[in-house]
Amino acid sequence: MTRSYLRFAAWLACALLVTALDNGLNAKPAMGWNSWNAFGPTINEEIIKDTADRLVALGLRDAGYVYLNLDDGWSDLKRTADGRLTANKTAFPSGIPALAKYVHSKGLKFGIYADAGNMTCAGFPGSLGFEEVDAQTFADWGVDYLKYDNCYAAQQQWVVDRYTAMRDALNATGRPILYSLCNWGVAEPWLWASGVGNSWRTTEDIEPTWDNVVKLLEYNVGLSQFAGPSRGWNDLDMLFVGNSRLGEYHPFGPFYQEQRAHFALWALFKSPLFIGHDLRNLNSSFVDLLKKKEIVAMNQDELGVAGDLIWQQGTRKIFATALAGGSRGVVLWNLQTTQSQYPLSNITVFWEQIGLGGSQRATVRDVFSERDLGVFSGSFSAAVAFHDVAVLRVTPVEGPLDDSWRPWHAQPLYAPQPANLAVPSAAAWIAGYTGPSSSGSGPGSKQQPDIRKASFSPPASSGPPSFAVVLSVLASLAALGVVGYFVVLHMRMRGWQQLDENEGARKMSEMSQTRRYSPPGS
Ligand code: GLA
Repeated sequence: MTRSYLRFAAWLACALLVTALDNGLNAKPAMGWNSWNAFGPTINEEIIKDTADRLVALGLRDAGYVYLNLDDGWSDLKRTADGRLTANKTAFPSGIPALAKYVHSKGLKFGIYADAGNMTCAGFPGSLGFEEVDAQTFADWGVDYLKYDNCYAAQQQWVVDRYTAMRDALNATGRPILYSLCNWGVAEPWLWASGVGNSWRTTEDIEPTWDNVVKLLEYNVGLSQFAGPSRGWNDLDMLFVGNSRLGEYHPFGPFYQEQRAHFALWALFKSPLFIGHDLRNLNSSFVDLLKKKEIVAMNQDELGVAGDLIWQQGTRKIFATALAGGSRGVVLWNLQTTQSQYPLSNITVFWEQIGLGGSQRATVRDVFSERDLGVFSGSFSAAVAFHDVAVLRVTPVEGPLDDSWRPWHAQPLYAPQPANLAVPSAAAWIAGYTGPSSSGSGPGSKQQPDIRKASFSPPASSGPPSFAVVLSVLASLAALGVVGYFVVLHMRMRGWQQLDENEGARKMSEMSQTRRYSPPGS
């Protein structure tokens, strides 16, 4: 009897050993620098060594940005004769081990990029089928972090299996390598990637526009309950703070207040924080922003509760989190349009919304300026400028100091859907496209159309265009010309009006400097 218990215990221990990531690197979201947003695939060892020097010189390493990660583009187009990945010799003449050594000598950690498919997204060799040899190569090279991408795999090569294979290969090396899943939210990694990776991307790639930053944040609402030190972290993708490409894609690319909203919200959501800018020309105001001690502290807080949306009305949103010791982190966000001539919104957070007593007295601290604003009971209001945030730390001055509140408590928005909380199976996922019963055709049963066929069906005919088509194209061109003429006319007149509005906006912004954080009546 005892022997069979022992055998079962041994089996369980083995099963647990092979089914969990065992690198011990889950405690806090990772912080560092990644090459992709600034350099794309054109990286080389000079850039990386220079970045290592600058991370130290700019004080970013000491602020917590310790990982220096190569993204796609570091490797050669071919594996070596014995099947190993190797660096592009022109870009990295000294080789990756020497580079890792240099990075380590600066007190930094060294990260690399690979792909769970046949090729990386930029077309370099993928690691599918080569997991063991690649994981061992990385361990031999002194790699501390692996970003594992998701390009070029067939649908049948089930995503969970592909990512688990590399997890097991990394475990087998015995080197603690932080494992960052970059699978763009495919198959809801927050449901299955805990125990597979230390973090998982929840969305497609970030772009340097305000709309995209807002969109990615919205995609992450409701996901915070799946993150934490015992699970791993939702990765909202790399930061675009200070990135010189801002504005190239979008005429209203983020300005300072947008950038600090982006940074503060990524930090509150406990996303890994990776700088994506070329450090040779990162404006000092953005260096200071990235080093904001109390924002970084919120991200790295011991309790590890990811923040989430707790209230919204129109363009005003409140996000909050629980912090170690019973404080709350709160972000008041004004998403009003930049076009408004009244660019301020009053936003009030009530203590009940953040799990404090209605009449409890609490100190409110402005996290960006690092100063206490006073003691308040019941609520706090701030006038927040458009696209800007007020980031607050609310700490009860008398008990109870309770850190068990979570942002998703009592939020019907986040009510779990038990049926969806299981790890999805490959069969369910792939078959899912055609509905639960692809052969069901009994009376009254409706079959879901196959969306793959529907959306990829070729155009019906490709003969010469008919007279009616030619006529409608000509008519559309003429209409476009007329509309264009009026648009130009309108814009010229609007130019003058805009000047007045900008003047108004400037005045309101000045007022906001003095009014901000002053609750009515204080
Ligand atoms: C994908 C990833 C990006 C980046 C590129 C590199 O798009 O999501 O973060 O790594 O590949 O090719």
